[in-house]
Amino acid sequence: MAKILPIVLHPHPSLSTKAAPVETVDDSIRALLDDMVLTAHGANGVGLAANQVDVLKRLIVLDFEVLRDVMSRHEESIEGIPGGILKLVNPEIAVLDETPYLHKGEGCLSIPDVYTEVERPDRIRLTYTDENGKPREYTLHGLAAAAVQHEMDHLNGILFLDRVGKVKRGMLDKKYAKAADYFRNYPRYLILTDDKGVLEQDLSGWKDMDE
Ligand code: NI
Repeated sequence: MAKILPIVLHPHPSLSTKAAPVETVDDSIRALLDDMVLTAHGANGVGLAANQVDVLKRLIVLDFEVLRDVMSRHEESIEGIPGGILKLVNPEIAVLDETPYLHKGEGCLSIPDVYTEVERPDRIRLTYTDENGKPREYTLHGLAAAAVQHEMDHLNGILFLDRVGKVKRGMLDKKYAKAADYFRNYPRYLILTDDKGVLEQDLSGWKDMDE
């Protein structure tokens, strides 16, 4: 049975550390990927990198069903965009088109309640090994490409906050400091903190949440 794992919040050393390649896709990796899917969904997230559950392995889960939905709603083409939930082992990306795509509301489960615009290359080739050890490849664009690049950044110890200019970064850091204080008092999902260890979900402070 898959289980929900605690998500680390920024700043946490695992979020700024490069994850190591997976050598063999075995049952323990498949179980971890299943746990990551449950964890991402449980936190109302679209994707998750293993760094975010304090595991320094090159693993990503991404719900492409949700990505396709959002892309359709924003009148982005979904041609060539796969469906379902993708479990990526040792993913690699190559930029095919540097034209910037503006991801308008980029956020992260490890940086709760902070959203901002991030520019990322519009088209990428994604190659990876799937949960059965098979090599796979997709050409992605727009939001799907941005989402993959966000998760790839995690595997390299980079956050979306590192992708914005200095002035904006300063504003977002202040905003996050407040948001994180509140979030740590009332975690919306299971979190792992440096100082207090694992903190259970506590929704009592989120009466105005529109979920
Ligand atoms: Ni993230």
